[in-house]
Amino acid sequence: MIHVVRYESPEALAEHVAARFASFLTDEPAARMALPTGATPEPVYAGIVEAVRAGVTSFRRAHVFLLDEFGGVPPDAKGRCDVMLHRALLDHVDVTPQHYHRLDPEAEDLAAMCAAYDASMKPALDLMMLGIGRNGHVGMNEPGTSPESATRRVELAPSTTQASVRYFGEGAALPTWGVTIGLSAILAARTIWILATGESKADIVRDVLLDPVSTTRPASLLRGHPDCWFFVDAAAAAKLPVGVLSRG
Ligand code: PGA
Repeated sequence: MIHVVRYESPEALAEHVAARFASFLTDEPAARMALPTGATPEPVYAGIVEAVRAGVTSFRRAHVFLLDEFGGVPPDAKGRCDVMLHRALLDHVDVTPQHYHRLDPEAEDLAAMCAAYDASMKPALDLMMLGIGRNGHVGMNEPGTSPESATRRVELAPSTTQASVRYFGEGAALPTWGVTIGLSAILAARTIWILATGESKADIVRDVLLDPVSTTRPASLLRGHPDCWFFVDAAAAAKLPVGVLSRG
């Protein structure tokens, strides 16, 4: 069952999702979760940082898994997912260092690293937080990905490489591949939250929610999940009929 919750602005979305996250973590302090990077979750993370600083909640017992990572670019590049998650969240909250799990594209044996990552995500994660690409990817699961896919190395769609310029900066070398949690671990998570803001996401939000479920738009596969929440702002929801919206 997919619930679609619309907020008037990206600020309102960030405020509500951060508050929802804080109560989730307070109710389940040892929760195991995967977290995304990119522009969309940043204001949500700012709200979560505020909640942790105010003592409303704590990551101390939680486990955080990085959703995906770019390969073939320096580990300290500002667009690396690990670097972005540190900058937006990890450097400002109390995650126990041993409880933070990152994907390592530099691993000598990449397949073994991916298999170990999948094993560490068993039993299934409590929360999977996701963004969505304009082509419908979740994590780096690009169009055509099987719902059974495991954590693995992936080639990026050319549009994903292009879009990464906003993380790496003009003139920087852009990644053409990455490592991502697969759709099987995403779909196995107890709860999925997917975030979309801005008019650039309006077409894909409509397609993912209204067109037939298809691997050509991986996010549409989430519609078969028992507890999936799609949080959208007014601009990203602009092409949705009112009837698909749920109450937060
Ligand atoms: P964005 O990225 O939040 O920077 O738009 C989303 C994604 O490509 O998954």
